[in-house]
Amino acid sequence: MTIIKSAEEIAIMRQAGRITAIVLQKMSEAVKPGLKTRQLDEIAERELGKWDTARASFKGYRGYPASICVSVNDEVVHGIPGKKVLKEGDIVSLDFGVIYRGFQGDAAVTVGVGTVSPDALKLMEVTKGSLTEGINAAREGGFLGDIGAAIQGYVESRGFSVVREYSGHGIGRDMHEDPLVPNFGSKCEGLKLKAGMTMALEPMVNRGGWKTRVNSNGWTVHTADGSLSAHFEHTIAIRNDETEILTVL
Ligand code: MF3
Ligand code: CO
Repeated sequence: MTIIKSAEEIAIMRQAGRITAIVLQKMSEAVKPGLKTRQLDEIAERELGKWDTARASFKGYRGYPASICVSVNDEVVHGIPGKKVLKEGDIVSLDFGVIYRGFQGDAAVTVGVGTVSPDALKLMEVTKGSLTEGINAAREGGFLGDIGAAIQGYVESRGFSVVREYSGHGIGRDMHEDPLVPNFGSKCEGLKLKAGMTMALEPMVNRGGWKTRVNSNGWTVHTADGSLSAHFEHTIAIRNDETEILTVL
């Protein structure tokens, strides 16, 4: 677990987060029917190339072959960019991470391709809303379980389900650090939250049941029941007076 102690460290984490957000934004804007998912990876690499001291954290991570994850419709996370062509009505989760001067940013958004069904729109809104709820629950003096409880309560009361087999995580000098930050749980349980902790909150929300399966490529996670899934992620820092979102423009 990285604990941010100095003004310099938080400034670097902010810049890592900002670069992550800029690249994600560029990809989101490019999403349209007819685009191949590989082209989103190319956009990310081109955009990231503007910073000579930043690199894509996913590339080569445990052998992962690309700079981004792009997960379409029933794909939950870890979709590998490739020949797949986006079509009107799809929903696309884009996940991207950066290493900058020894510190990490990690963020994800789900966007629609052209016009999407009211159901898909609702799923994306609820997932995004649940991330906001989770961030608001991540407070100095609170508990890790407060975050999962806030996300789970928000999602389930709206008729969707949260993925259990994948979670948020501590982040800082490494992309994945302790603690695991589940998107479900109970208030006032688990680790006590302290100023200086940095973590990635990332609810993955399914239209149907919460169960998932991994595709034969060994990476791509699908919903077990084939239902749609959405994913939003921010890297945050718990501070004394407030919780700061780092992966913003
Ligand atoms: N953003 C993902 C996460 O938070 C990481 C993608 S896994 C990788 O866990 F292998 F692609 F890097
Ligand atoms: Co993450």
